[in-house]
Formats: sequence, C-alpha cells, structure tokens
Amino acid sequence: MGYENIRVEKRGKVGLITLDRPKALNALNSALVAELGTALDGFDADERIGCIVITGSEKAFAAGADIKEMQPHNFSSAYQTDLITPFDRVSRNRKPIIAAVAGYALGGGCELAMLCDFIIAADTAKFGQPEITLGVIPGAGGTQRLTRFVGKSKAMEMVLTGRMMDAEEAERSGLVSRIVPADDLLEEALKAAEKIADFSLPVVMMAKESVDRAYETTLSEGVRFERRVFQALFALEDQNEGMSAFTEKRTPQFRNK
Ligand code: HXC
Repeated sequence: MGYENIRVEKRGKVGLITLDRPKALNALNSALVAELGTALDGFDADERIGCIVITGSEKAFAAGADIKEMQPHNFSSAYQTDLITPFDRVSRNRKPIIAAVAGYALGGGCELAMLCDFIIAADTAKFGQPEITLGVIPGAGGTQRLTRFVGKSKAMEMVLTGRMMDAEEAERSGLVSRIVPADDLLEEALKAAEKIADFSLPVVMMAKESVDRAYETTLSEGVRFERRVFQALFALEDQNEGMSAFTEKRTPQFRNK
C-alpha cells in the first residue's frame, strides 16, 4: 500500500513507522490515523516482525489530532464519524510498540504515545493535553492513561491548565521509560526494539499481555493470570532453548516455537 502521511519500513525484525506530515507538525488527521492502523495491522500479521517503533520528526512526534479537520464537527457528526475508534488499533496490536518521542507530543499525540507499550523520550520532548484551550477535553484516553502514568494531581493540573511537561518531568513522573539525547533517539529506540525482537516472539507477546493485565484487573487476578502464563511457557521449545543455553554458556537461538 502507498502511504501519504507516514513512512513504513522494515529494519530487520523491527517495523518502523514514521509520522510524516511535517508541515502540520504531524497533526493526526483521519487519513494518517487510518494509515497508521493499516501499517500496525500489517506488522502484527507479519511473522518476521518482533517489535514496532513509532516516531515522528525532530520538532514533533505529533501536535495532536488535526484541529482544522475537527473544527467543523457537531455532536452528531463527531459521534457518527467516530474520530477516536481508529486509535484502538494501536492498543489492539499484540506486538510491543515503542514510541520514540522528540519535540511535541500534544493532545492526541500524547495519547498515541501513551497507547504504545513504552515511551523513549528525546531531551527535547514536550508532553501535554492542551485540549482545554480548544474548548474540549482529551478524547483518546488522555484523562485515563495520563492519570495512571503520572497520578491524579499532575494529570489533573495538565488536563485543566493545558500545561506542557518537559522530558525531565516526564521521566521523573513515570510517563517515559528514559531520556536520550535527541540525536540518538531513533538509534536508541531501534536498539531496544532489536533487543526485544531477538527474544522469543510468543514469550514477548505474553509478557506484554501480562503487564497489560495490571491495568485491567485486580492484583490477585493479575497475579493468577501471570502465574498461568508462566507455567504455560514451559510448553514452548524456546523455554527449553533459553534455559539450556544458559547452562551451556552459549547464546540462545529462539525459534518462536
Ligand atoms: C492542525 C496543526 C496542529 C494541529 C500544529 N498545526 N498543530 N494543524 N492540527 N493539532 C499546524 C499549524 O496550524 C501550522 O500550520 C503548522 O502546524 C506549524 O504550527 P505552528 O503553530 O506555526 O508552530 P509553532 O509556533 O512552533 O507551535 C507549535 C505548537 C502549536 C505549540 C505545537 O502548533 C500548537 O499549539 N498546536 C496545537 C496543539 C494542540 O492543541 N493539540 C491538541 C489538539 S486536540 P500553518 O498552515 O498555519 O503554517 C486533540 C484531541 C484529540 O488532539 C482527541 C482524540 C482524537
């Protein structure tokens, strides 16, 4: 498929998606979000891909949903067009997705980053939910996910005032996993993705599923889920390979079986 708003590449076992509407600071219009969903579904289905990276430009990961596209909507058209459901294709993806964020990640851009499995931030990154300044509120999970990441007080302040958070504050408050110099962002994100993609894919997928359970269920049910997955992994050849390689002091050769 030809993409107009994103660039899609395979780097070995890593699927790389670059948001590419530079003139609009990668504002997420419906065409871009549809293309992103298609690319993600393609990588999910591609058995050679073990991890996905989503990134933007130096200036912006994404400056939010496209305000010019949203402006004419009324309730009925916003409801019927459903601006938001296409974002679900990010969280539905079963493979790990890393957001590599430089510059602005605002509104839907911040929400997109939070829909990924973890965020690596350039030292230039700025996160915010400025929807209040436009007369709306976050619509793609921002009030819920930001609160889970950074706690009520900070999330409430950001959502109510539209204040942005820089990379340092984002790392301090648990929104991002780590900060890297802007020049190294893509390399660092790809390095992390390659590392993940070299592990056993079914194990990686179940690790992701298990961490995600922490957000969906009680502690005791989550622990029960994890325990059953842990036990089930002993049915895989890759468990035997991983543990044999350790005892034989060699590098494991995982075969995704
Ligand atoms: C459409 C956008 C845009 C956006 C920037 N642009 N953000 N277009 N939607 N979200 C466009 C500008 O109109 C401008 O185009 C060009 O990108 C460059 O932007 P400037 O404003 O000139 O750049 P700068 O002065 O550097 O300011 C950067 C900025 C600012 C601080 C990021 O652009 C800004 O505040 N953008 C809006 C951020 C925002 O409110 N996001 C939340 C959106 S609501 P022209 O053609 O004029 O040169 C949302 C709801 C999600 O995300 C709901 C779920 C789907």
